[in-house]
Amino acid sequence: MAFLGTLTSFLLLFTHIIHNARAASIHPLCGSNITIDNVQPVAKSVTDLTALFHGLELPEGACIFNPALVQVSGPLYCLFGRIYEASEPGKRCAPGRMDRPPFLDGWRGKSTNILAILWLRQDPNRRRLQTKLMGHTYINASNHEDGRLFKDSRGRIYVYLALPIGVYPKRAVINTVNRVFIQCNRSSSHCAVSLGYPRILSFLGSDNAMDKNWVPWNGSEYMSFSHYGTFGPHSVFNWGSYDEPVLHIDFDSVAEDSLFPNFNKHYGHLLQLSGGSPVVLEPGGKSYLGVGHFKAHPGCFHPEAMPAWVDKSRFGHMVGQLGTNCAHLQQSSNETTRSEVLRVAFNFLHEGKEGIHYPLDYGFFFYRFNAAAPHNITHISHGVIPYTWRNASDHQGIVFPTGLERLGSDTYIIAYGDEDQASKLMTISARRVEALLWPLPKMEQSLDTYTVCAIGCEGEEGGRCSYE
Ligand SMILES: *[C@@H]1O[C@H](CO)[C@@H](O)[C@H](O)[C@H]1NC(C)=O
Ligand SMILES: *[C@@H]1O[C@H](CO)[C@@H](O)[C@H](O)[C@H]1NC(C)=O
Ligand SMILES: *[C@@H]1O[C@H](CO)[C@@H](O)[C@H](O)[C@H]1NC(C)=O
Ligand SMILES: *[C@@H]1O[C@H](CO)[C@@H](O)[C@H](O)[C@H]1NC(C)=O
Ligand SMILES: *[C@@H]1O[C@H](CO)[C@@H](O)[C@H](O)[C@H]1NC(C)=O
Ligand SMILES: *[C@@H]1O[C@H](CO)[C@@H](O)[C@H](O)[C@H]1NC(C)=O
Ligand SMILES: *[C@@H]1O[C@H](CO)[C@@H](O)[C@H](O)[C@H]1NC(C)=O
Repeated sequence: MAFLGTLTSFLLLFTHIIHNARAASIHPLCGSNITIDNVQPVAKSVTDLTALFHGLELPEGACIFNPALVQVSGPLYCLFGRIYEASEPGKRCAPGRMDRPPFLDGWRGKSTNILAILWLRQDPNRRRLQTKLMGHTYINASNHEDGRLFKDSRGRIYVYLALPIGVYPKRAVINTVNRVFIQCNRSSSHCAVSLGYPRILSFLGSDNAMDKNWVPWNGSEYMSFSHYGTFGPHSVFNWGSYDEPVLHIDFDSVAEDSLFPNFNKHYGHLLQLSGGSPVVLEPGGKSYLGVGHFKAHPGCFHPEAMPAWVDKSRFGHMVGQLGTNCAHLQQSSNETTRSEVLRVAFNFLHEGKEGIHYPLDYGFFFYRFNAAAPHNITHISHGVIPYTWRNASDHQGIVFPTGLERLGSDTYIIAYGDEDQASKLMTISARRVEALLWPLPKMEQSLDTYTVCAIGCEGEEGGRCSYE
């Protein structure tokens, strides 16, 4: 066993080196040292769902992304996705292409949504999920943006939405929950799915009109508030009931810790943590697990995107290779640059030309908090992005986690939007997730080595996930 393990790590290291020599501009694969017990951090599979929606009444060239996901029962799952039809035909999404992100169309097209029922099963012969579409509703009368699906304490399915109103700069969101109604007919294998009326989640304690990405706790009426920029302190709402949510002037609990303020002091806007998927109760019932999203200055990883204030002579050796952490920008920054860089990052060019990389890099991190009040966050992982095999000039850096579910008892499904163009499901074993979770004090001791790397697929050549 030990020998096999060593051989596997050697092979992984070997493919890693070859791979890096061939295409140095791909985000590097994660090494086992981002886990606490030297487990290779790999996913089981990645499955692209987007083709399931082709041929429906969706607009030609629709991008279908940021899928929320909740299990209905058995192999049936409910999905809420976002749809975008670019204003110009040449900028619309197309099967097999990943170079048509809506931001390149300036989001001037039409945004709608889809609710769908899927049948999901691990394909016994292949490293991916078998999928079938059991029914859907195209929600085209309004734009609901990103949803998060979850069940309340009575097992009823809801979608949490942050409905946009107005146009920038007079723009705000209204946070709501809507029931989701599902009726399946066994003999025809078809499900009807519809959205109920919205219930407003009122929180008067924030002066940010754009507060969204709140985190529903599956199986309850609780949600976590996403503090923009800092993530912590972990601040919690108990809405009481989603039929009549309680008006909130303040949080029901707040748990302070030192990691999040220190992370923020260290990186400022260079690297920010925020809410992503809903959270789910872990076995034993003592803690919840969630997948958050981070956003980072692209200069953390793409050397060509380093801002002008970086002393490049000190970091010249990095040029030509994608990095895995942000220590060099952190060390070169002062308080002003640390807090301004997200705006500066909007000038990201690839090799001096207008590239297709979004001006920020997005990714996932796992975290855990206590089920008991005051719900302190106890663990957090390094940053991971799904392995794409795409290089800096043809990836856009936008992967956005919108769902966390189970497949059987030992596997998690992470539902995410890929580059605002595709809807994907990554599966990963609970054991590998466990290994990624660091106790907060331990992570706090090594803020400088906070890593962002690509997580490949178990047993696949070079870690490449064969979802295509
Ligand atoms: C990156 O992608 C571009 C466009 O597909 C291609 O021309 C280039 O050769 C790729 N570079 C590497 C290092 O793989
Ligand atoms: C993992 O190892 C690499 C290479 O030795 C090192 O640069 C990096 O900081 C390590 N990462 C962590 C999280 O310890
Ligand atoms: C919405 O889609 C339906 C078909 O599902 C179509 O009849 C209707 O015209 C569409 N409405 C808008 C506003 O696009
Ligand atoms: C979500 O909550 C429901 C209770 O409403 C529970 O039955 C289900 O197992 C939970 N899902 C997960 C992934 O924990
Ligand atoms: C269920 O499907 C069958 C077969 O298509 C159909 O005959 C039946 O009317 C459906 N039942 C309901 C309640 O819609
Ligand atoms: C949990 O949060 C409470 C409230 O902020 C705080 O007093 C306590 O020190 C925290 N416990 C740990 C272990 O961080
Ligand atoms: C921070 O760094 C920037 C870029 O080097 C510089 O222009 C600015 O004056 C610095 N600000 C402070 C307060 O030192």
